[in-house]
Amino acid sequence: MRISRYLLGGCVAGVIADQVPLVGDYNCEHPPYQVLMVSKSPRVIYITDFLTPEERSHLQNVTQNSFTRSHVASRAGAAKHAVRTSQSTLVPRDAIVRCIETRALAFQGYDTPRRNLEPLQLVKYGPTEHYHYHTDWFLSQENASPQAGGNRVSSFFAYVQVANDTTGGGTNFPHLDPPADARWCEMGIVDCDDEYDRGVTFRPVEGNAIYWENLRSDGSGDERTLHAGLPLTGGGKIGMNIWTREMALSEDVRGRDYYP
Ligand SMILES: *[C@@H]1O[C@H](CO)[C@@H](O)[C@H](O)[C@H]1NC(C)=O
Ligand SMILES: *[C@@H]1O[C@H](CO)[C@@H](O)[C@H](O)[C@H]1NC(C)=O
Repeated sequence: MRISRYLLGGCVAGVIADQVPLVGDYNCEHPPYQVLMVSKSPRVIYITDFLTPEERSHLQNVTQNSFTRSHVASRAGAAKHAVRTSQSTLVPRDAIVRCIETRALAFQGYDTPRRNLEPLQLVKYGPTEHYHYHTDWFLSQENASPQAGGNRVSSFFAYVQVANDTTGGGTNFPHLDPPADARWCEMGIVDCDDEYDRGVTFRPVEGNAIYWENLRSDGSGDERTLHAGLPLTGGGKIGMNIWTREMALSEDVRGRDYYP
């Protein structure tokens, strides 16, 4: 099996293996998730039950003991940056992970090739850990060049695991208008104790995901997608990033796909 080093902002963000051959009788089935529009511009959609309990358990099992201090993409290529104190790892692409990829591609209307997906990344936050305000799209031309796969068109941030004693640790978008309807608070999705001028803070809810589009129609980065993983004051959470690029990623970044 070939192992690729995955480069991000000049530093090695992890290693990704080629696709694991499909074996056994696993059958990819998609959960009946629900979608809720949060914002039309920029497009932000909340998805309930995007990951099944089995998928969440599997994602944790296959990444156990592989987390390392997260890196930040920056022009300077700073390796370990104080703005991000979480730990992260890349997920080996087996049949279950491909099923999640297939769901993410279908959500975006089927016309995105699989090769435009970055290897899925898990991010673990313990008490006090956070990821300061950032955008997922790259500022630097180097990171967003056609050879590098272009910029990040869209992001899913899915909650894989949330400890039952978790406090804090929401995902905050300061430039979005909070939804007005009380159901967002009652469903436990939006933190309605937050001040209005702080934008929208999504509470971590296992299995749910936030989807948003990073680029304007002219391809430039949309600064309204600025967001942060707020510090946890108790408990812990594991999230997953699914990033879609404008163009295909090289095998060096994505590893090899044996199946279409
Ligand atoms: C993950 O590992 C635990 C402990 O070994 C096991 O009980 C569970 O079934 C595994 N989950 C999956 C989806 O394989
Ligand atoms: C949280 O989980 C722990 C360990 O599984 C358990 O002992 C505890 O009772 C749970 N607490 C609540 C409030 O559910």
